[in-house]
Amino acid sequence: MNELTNRNYSDDEVSEQKQWQSEFPYHWDADELTSRRDLLQFAVYASGTLFLGTALLALLRRFLPVRETAAKEIARITEIPHDDAVYFHYPGPEDQAMLLRLESERFVAYSQTCTHLSCSVYYQKDQNRLFCPCHEGVFDTRTGEPVAGPPVRPLSRITLQANGDKLYAIGVEP
Ligand code: FES
Repeated sequence: MNELTNRNYSDDEVSEQKQWQSEFPYHWDADELTSRRDLLQFAVYASGTLFLGTALLALLRRFLPVRETAAKEIARITEIPHDDAVYFHYPGPEDQAMLLRLESERFVAYSQTCTHLSCSVYYQKDQNRLFCPCHEGVFDTRTGEPVAGPPVRPLSRITLQANGDKLYAIGVEP
């Protein structure tokens, strides 16, 4: 009622204000005020924490060694076509992967999981590209780097090893 003493209010105004206060019984004294400074401080700490977490993950990804898993035979080298992909599962039975023969003795293998929203990526031999149909993401066959569409990270690369006339998958690069 203090604010009501600064000027003379009519009876109608006073009763109108009392009615408003009774409908919305909000007491400033009982409220915990958050100052703009507190809010800004919280935003700075939260942003800093997110930045550090992201930087740490990026460093781990860059410097962690290739995750070695059990070697898995993909195919006989003589049976791998020059103009098509060989699809297989690696490292687990649910993990789709693909092998490409770029030149007679040059092979690359990638996870089929799109780095945008995890749809399956396929080799399109007529356009010599790796294509994700969900949002038309395109990856380079030689590097797995994204070249068009929404993906910004390269496909996970699978490390290969030849043994005799067979090609094996031996690990997944992080
Ligand atoms: S999920 Fe592959 S482009 Fe979106």
